[in-house]
Amino acid sequence: MDRKAHWEDVYQTKAADSVSWFQPVPQPSLDAIGRFGGTPAQSLIDIGGGASALVARLAEAGWSNLAVLDISAPALDVARAAMGAGGDAVEWIAADITAWRPARGYDIWHDRAVFHFLTEDPARAGYRAALAQGLKPGGLLLMATFALDGPEKCSGLPVQRYGPAELAAALGDGFVLLDSWREEHHTPGGSTQNFNWCAFRKAGENAA
Ligand SMILES: C[S@@+](CC[C@H](N)C(=O)[O-])C[C@H]1O[C@@H](n2cnc3c(N)ncnc32)[C@H](O)[C@@H]1O
Repeated sequence: MDRKAHWEDVYQTKAADSVSWFQPVPQPSLDAIGRFGGTPAQSLIDIGGGASALVARLAEAGWSNLAVLDISAPALDVARAAMGAGGDAVEWIAADITAWRPARGYDIWHDRAVFHFLTEDPARAGYRAALAQGLKPGGLLLMATFALDGPEKCSGLPVQRYGPAELAAALGDGFVLLDSWREEHHTPGGSTQNFNWCAFRKAGENAA
């Protein structure tokens, strides 16, 4: 099964609140956005946002320039339906991040548990090309992956685990690591997953 088919199947066959990555409230993301100066006047894209409530919570807080990209169109349908009419104001992008080339830049690029699925160099290079175009100079990159002592698989797929140094190296030059921290995520199934979070500032003048 290819990646797209895998993720379409996941969101068509499993309840959104039953998957291992489910969070009723994406509090670690909301906290990080606030801590690094995110404001409702800024634009944000949630990469591999799936059925996450992140943009819904941000919209409630007054953010109006929001986008969600996911390889799974059914995932976007779930997230959009949960927002009701408010979902009409969000940019929904069904695409593989490794091949997507954005037409515009965003102030904040958020990725929780997506980059870690890219276990091959060409896929990571594709992601970096999207990031180079899609995050404005001076923009904020928030990325959560499984930590070095986290699980070896997610959704049945192998993942690449990272600590801050490994993630900085994988992203390449042009990103200044602002901070890193760990999160213990408790899955609906009752297990604990160790995440590594990093905040990076993209080099260049802050256009926000
Ligand atoms: C583990 S889930 C995390 C979902 C969401 N970020 C969250 O925190 O709830 C991974 C998500 O990444 C999406 N995804 C996986 N590979 C992708 C790719 N190559 N391009 C875009 N999205 C992808 C999946 O469809 C899925 O929604």
